[in-house]
Amino acid sequence: MRTQVGIIGAGPAGLLLSHLLRRSGIDSVIVESRSRADIEGTIRAGVLEQWLVDVIDELGLGARMHAEGHFHTGITLQFSGERHHLDIEELTGGKKVTVYAQHEVIKDLVTARLAQGGAIHFEVTDVAPQGIDSARPSIRFRTKEGVLETLDCDFIAGCDGFHGPCRQAIPAAIRTEYQKIYPFGWLGVLVEAPPSWHELIYANHDKGFSLLSTRSETVQRLYVQCPPQDDLADWSDDRVWSELHERLATKTPWTLTEGKIFQKNIVGLRSFVCETMQHGRLFLAGDSAHIVPPTGAKGLNLAAADVLILSRALDAFYKSDTSDLLNSYSQTCLKRIWKAERFSWYMTTMLHKNPDESSFEQRIHLADLDYVVHSHAACLAIAENYVGLPL
Ligand code: FAD
Ligand code: DHB
Repeated sequence: MRTQVGIIGAGPAGLLLSHLLRRSGIDSVIVESRSRADIEGTIRAGVLEQWLVDVIDELGLGARMHAEGHFHTGITLQFSGERHHLDIEELTGGKKVTVYAQHEVIKDLVTARLAQGGAIHFEVTDVAPQGIDSARPSIRFRTKEGVLETLDCDFIAGCDGFHGPCRQAIPAAIRTEYQKIYPFGWLGVLVEAPPSWHELIYANHDKGFSLLSTRSETVQRLYVQCPPQDDLADWSDDRVWSELHERLATKTPWTLTEGKIFQKNIVGLRSFVCETMQHGRLFLAGDSAHIVPPTGAKGLNLAAADVLILSRALDAFYKSDTSDLLNSYSQTCLKRIWKAERFSWYMTTMLHKNPDESSFEQRIHLADLDYVVHSHAACLAIAENYVGLPL
């Protein structure tokens, strides 16, 4: 087997990369360890930055996103029982908040790639990037049928998420990892109910953070801060509703519409960056190189930004025979990644109740929120980060 770019992982990074490369006339093959049904059914992120919506449109893949996604003009910050609208559209000169679930993006990208005749090998095992120091790297893997294959390629894109093998393939001596683990997690639920509010609510509360998001006219996505070691068994539906009602309560009357909870999951929160993101002919993209806590809605968007930068560099390599952009890939990505790390850390710190912090620090977060909602400059800073910094 041979291709120009071998892609490990069919998450948002790997799939979007295959589409961007196709637009440049560059051939790619994806190997993915999970099944198609599994990647299309895993519930994760929900918010797309404006430039990503535009890229999806440019690729001709935006029809369902426009029909089924939700386009909001802003977000609501809640604290001390009061809500404050941040008019993202006005603050950013017309950019919107797009709520369209990650697994729906995955479905659109997989369907289109397969319809184009693109190669995605699902349910592969024993995946190993090889020869990344050489001009002839390859990916060894075992197919679903058990056949051992070698995919020869010019470059390998490591889009294999946080637990994949690619990051470890970069020698430890040239890799520096930066990490912060937060002492809290998020319990996420999907609920059969109509929207309770016209936009996302990010709520600071003495009992902990909560987030109200949406999926459709009949399904809502809600999150509550919980201890990271909590088990789903600790969270009966009654307890979820009681915490949500308390944390989202306002001084003025408002109703949180309940409904049947049909999905629950708990994730721990961490910040992580791996420097460098490249070695020889291997390029890391997305969660394989960095993780953000979800409060800034950046994880999926950062993964997409990496592969846009990588696709431009590969385009320059194949069309103009120049490796400059490839050589500076990691540096280019990391400049923007660290700003998204900062924003995600800032939103997380300001909005959560950290059990390790003093009452002084908790009051500082309230002062920060009060400053944000009363300062045009501070609102603008949140808005321009939320919609995504320039690429
Ligand atoms: P992934 O989506 O992780 O894709 C990597 C792919 O590589 C996977 O399909 C995996 O199966 C595959 N793979 C792994 N190992 C191998 C191997 N050895 N061989 C072949 N394939 C392999 N972000 C938010 O902004 N908001 C959220 O609410 C949110 N919730 C999240 C919940 C969970 C449980 C997780 C894990 C992440 C969440 N994120 C969230 C983050 C966001 O979903 C990720 O940042 C995004 O998925 C990154 O895309 P990616 O393509 O880099 O990696
Ligand atoms: C969603 C997830 C986020 O992390 C976020 O900041 C906003 C919305 C969501 O799943 O809808």
